[in-house]
Amino acid sequence: MTERAIDHLQDQWLLILDFGSQYTQLIARRVRECGVYCEIQPFDVEKSYFDERQPRGVILSGGPETVTSGDTPRIPERLLELEIPILGICYGMQALAAQLGGGVKSSAHREFGHAEIDLHGGSELLGTLDPDRHGKAQVWMSHGDKVTDLPEGFSVTASTESAPVAAMENPSKRIYAVQFHPEVTHTPNGDHLIDRFAKDICRCDGDWTIENIAEEAIRRTKEQVGDDEVVLGLSGGVDSSVVAAILSRAIGDQLTCIFVDNGLLRKDETEEVEKAFGLEAGTGNVLPIKIKTIDARSEFLTKLVGVVGPEDKRKIIGNTFIDVFEREADKLRNVKWLAQGTIYPDVIESAASKYGKAHVIKSHHNVGGLPERMSLQLVEPLRELFKDEVRNLGIYLGLPKSLIYRHPFPGPGLGVRILGEVKSEYAEVLREADAIFIEELQKENLYDSVSQAFAVYLPVKSVGVVGDARRYEHVIALRAVETIDFMTARSARLPYEFVDKVSNRIMNEISQVSRVVYDISSKPPSTIEWE
Ligand code: XMP
Repeated sequence: MTERAIDHLQDQWLLILDFGSQYTQLIARRVRECGVYCEIQPFDVEKSYFDERQPRGVILSGGPETVTSGDTPRIPERLLELEIPILGICYGMQALAAQLGGGVKSSAHREFGHAEIDLHGGSELLGTLDPDRHGKAQVWMSHGDKVTDLPEGFSVTASTESAPVAAMENPSKRIYAVQFHPEVTHTPNGDHLIDRFAKDICRCDGDWTIENIAEEAIRRTKEQVGDDEVVLGLSGGVDSSVVAAILSRAIGDQLTCIFVDNGLLRKDETEEVEKAFGLEAGTGNVLPIKIKTIDARSEFLTKLVGVVGPEDKRKIIGNTFIDVFEREADKLRNVKWLAQGTIYPDVIESAASKYGKAHVIKSHHNVGGLPERMSLQLVEPLRELFKDEVRNLGIYLGLPKSLIYRHPFPGPGLGVRILGEVKSEYAEVLREADAIFIEELQKENLYDSVSQAFAVYLPVKSVGVVGDARRYEHVIALRAVETIDFMTARSARLPYEFVDKVSNRIMNEISQVSRVVYDISSKPPSTIEWE
């Protein structure tokens, strides 16, 4: 692909205006799955944004407010003056109706869940829903308010019993609106509707593919840093690993990665990272990458002596990381850039409008404050990508699946999985127990069926008998959860025989454990980590 063609990747793009829906990021992911680049902005984005950035089309998200009250989000007037295609979803449809001269009423009856809509025929957009021979299609609804009067120039394209205007459009102005949610998988063929809007109505080619994304990221990174040296804190997690892979393709050995062993890593973590980046002979993976592994175990563990509060531990681990990293980076000469694995959800979060309360994502744990402290510039090649795109990119660039699909691991590591004071002997035991649990999950093909699994160290003494001897030792808890977004989770229903086997192995192989328990709490009210 030529450079000109790559530039064109982000020329053809859609804007998603966020009215506070919990599904806004899902809309964006659906658009990208069609191969079309898109960005999310809060509904109250600067007026000049539309003229400066020129999206090919705009999707208005749903939202928790009601247009029937005065002080709620509205579509920017500038957008309504521009003649570009618009697709309003749920609140987005109601806002279109209200602002273009139609009518919206609040209703006591909330429609929530599956619904069957009657298609009125002739709609270029709704035809994609693959209606049955009676012209009916299945969709997913979640709304209280509904459109009661059409704006001028619009016609009804679908209705349900309780929502006579379930969809409306003005094809000559290329404005379309649906009361239902095409972005959720409960709307079969909803993705086809989004595809039709993005490609046929907004005329985007659909060249946002993983090959093009990779080429673009490599090219742009190269352009950005030129001949300068770059430093990256490699953690062994997906994001920093993919950043390392991009940078190594873009600038080769101008990149130095610093991997800090804080004494709170999982078993064999250092070796795994080195293997992933081809530093181990015979692995066949030849990304040219320089990794400086820093053994800072005693520095971390000394600072943690006597500290019991989870937040205090987090703070100490975070600050010590910054100290170690800064010290090591200072030893490298001529470093001008700090690479970070910031991804798109982090960017959206910091740009969310005052109404953007639906965007509660877990906090972003980058190397806070370092760029200013060390007067480094930031290079963030994943800033525009969602997690699934980052994973695909990692695979495309040759990173092993085991690393790309690994369960998340918190920055403070085992520090928040050893309750209370952290001691190196506790960490040692926990590492072994955790490794047994994970190894068994992998052996039984259960690893990918849970979102996160790990062992926790409970320094409470409990009695056991092993052979003829009495054992008075500590307790290991096993935690495995299923979750989509890590904001809510349920404990994984692992087979009883399986947990039994893991417990037996831990008790037999680790003499410092007298009891194993399985955590069955959901989030909320519990959290996923124990601290
Ligand atoms: P909780 O325990 O809050 O965890 O339900 C939700 C997700 O966040 C991870 N987590 C952390 N990640 N630093 C991190 O980098 C932390 O301090 C931290 N605390 C929790 C947790 O592993 C889970 O995936």
